[in-house]
Amino acid sequence: MCGIVGAVSQRDVEGILLEGLRRLEYRGYDSAGLATLNGEGNIHRAREVGKVAALADALAAQPSPGTIGIAHTRWATHGEPSQSNAHPHMSGERLAIVHNGIIENYQELRDQLRAEGYQFTSQTDTEVVAHLIEKFYRTEQDLFKAVTAAIGQLRGAYALAVLHADEPDRLVVCREGSPLVIGVGIGENFIASDQLALLPVTDRFMVLEEGDIADIRRDQISILDRNGEPAERDVNRFEHGQDAADKGEYRHFMLKEIHEQPAVIKTTMEGRLTDSHVLEQALGTEAGKLLEDVRHVQIIACGTSYHAGMVARYWIEELAGVPCSVEVASEFRYRKHVIQKDTLFLCISQSGETADTLAALRQAKKSGFRAALAVCNVPGSSLVRESDLVIMTHAGPEIGVASTKAFTTQLTALLIFTLALARHNGLTEEKEVEIVQALRQVPGQVAEVLALDADIQQLSEAFVDKNHSLFLGRGSQYPVALEGALRLKEISYIHAEAYPAGELKHGPLALVDSEMPVVTVAPNNDLVEKLKSNLEEVRARGGELFVFADREANVKTEDGIHVMQIPPVHPITAPIVYTVPLQLLSYHVAVLKGTDVDQPRNLAKSVTVE
Ligand code: F6R
Repeated sequence: MCGIVGAVSQRDVEGILLEGLRRLEYRGYDSAGLATLNGEGNIHRAREVGKVAALADALAAQPSPGTIGIAHTRWATHGEPSQSNAHPHMSGERLAIVHNGIIENYQELRDQLRAEGYQFTSQTDTEVVAHLIEKFYRTEQDLFKAVTAAIGQLRGAYALAVLHADEPDRLVVCREGSPLVIGVGIGENFIASDQLALLPVTDRFMVLEEGDIADIRRDQISILDRNGEPAERDVNRFEHGQDAADKGEYRHFMLKEIHEQPAVIKTTMEGRLTDSHVLEQALGTEAGKLLEDVRHVQIIACGTSYHAGMVARYWIEELAGVPCSVEVASEFRYRKHVIQKDTLFLCISQSGETADTLAALRQAKKSGFRAALAVCNVPGSSLVRESDLVIMTHAGPEIGVASTKAFTTQLTALLIFTLALARHNGLTEEKEVEIVQALRQVPGQVAEVLALDADIQQLSEAFVDKNHSLFLGRGSQYPVALEGALRLKEISYIHAEAYPAGELKHGPLALVDSEMPVVTVAPNNDLVEKLKSNLEEVRARGGELFVFADREANVKTEDGIHVMQIPPVHPITAPIVYTVPLQLLSYHVAVLKGTDVDQPRNLAKSVTVE
């Protein structure tokens, strides 16, 4: 999705803006641009289709010096990826703007502004905002007032940063529905849609609230809230190291993040578990009272986070005996639903900025749920700020578009939540101790799976020339199969479908032949014997099986079956551990196919528009 960076400094900001854009590349984009105000008081703008490197080349040929500027990576929504649609957009020669989000009433505003004589050079909704601010600037003669007046006419979601050549010492920024942070420096200040963009220049951040508008100067930041009242926002330090946004020794962010899992899963558990019990208070002071009242759980999420929710349903119903429903946010928000008394609304999101998940949460808060709990990875995100109770996953920044450590830490957090809920619903102490101890072993078990990397790489060669694949799982491994299929299709572009193995003979078996690799996860649980029968059904049709199986499950490599042995794992924690070989498999297939592993085509890291 689109990214914003801006700076007000005493030093030249072109390099800071370009580096910020590079750090936002992981979010997905199709063009990039930058505008600075030079010493003669003129705005210099550069825009290029394609990668930030193309913009950097253009700037090397024609530099854009200046101590104040704004920059943007665009992910096309209104109009194709082209130089004229790339940001910054300008109104005349004196005003430049960058924008994330979508202006819903842009057509109506565009018609109105065109009738008033404004000329449009792009197909974007953003250029409408540029002209609208310019229009108000004519009467207000003050950028802050002009932006305030203009946003009063906008409907939709936006984060904006605006620069005016007549006011060379200030940026005016605002947010409504799209994230924006202020990076606080010494004698200089910055803005960005994501803290990672600014780590080379500051580690102190202020998160703007919805409806805030801010005046950013070198040595001063003033904020008004949506009611026009002066507002103070806390300054927090970025809690992950400076290397969080570097690949380090790894070839791709995805591989680095896969290998971080033993450490980050441990971090997710920190302070929330003793050796044998869950520390309920660590979920919040209100958690105990709330969990006592909960009679149902409604989970909402998208993509990978939705798969985490599907696993959680198995846990919640098995361990807590509490009915649980799971739905993708984009469906939930547009249908009528029956809300049972004392239902907890549980949102899962890595970014905390996914538009559909946020819309579902906002709707839920008006619809009579008992409370809203968020499981999220990004501190200060909209989801975190708008939920009643939050469990942070503490995975650290996830840069690869394909979700890896975000998923396994979500599962860890959800299992901890389940145990806390189950305690109020008859879980025996003995069972709690057993599962907490099993959870404590997960980081070590994940490390053991990571040691199989070279073998999995070898296995991946069988997929490179295939166009289709099937993933099978049973019980709580079915969502793991779904996640494995999503991972493979997302980064290798091989069509991958997942089925509960018991569904095989109800249709998908028709697809099976020697050209269709079938991937299966087979921990040693009470469904393993049934799963083995499903595998025979595949084998009998000439299908080639790739099975990740518990050492003790007695599935052997033979003709048509390649078995990769996984260390014995408790059936409850198995979904966390079995996810990891599937991540490695898709990673290696993508590398062999030569795709853009960290930034797969057509995808964005955080889907902040509908
Ligand atoms: C897949 C992936 C997406 C996200 C989905 C939800 O690798 O990353 O499917 O899981 O867009 O994003 P969050 O969790 O940020 O709400």
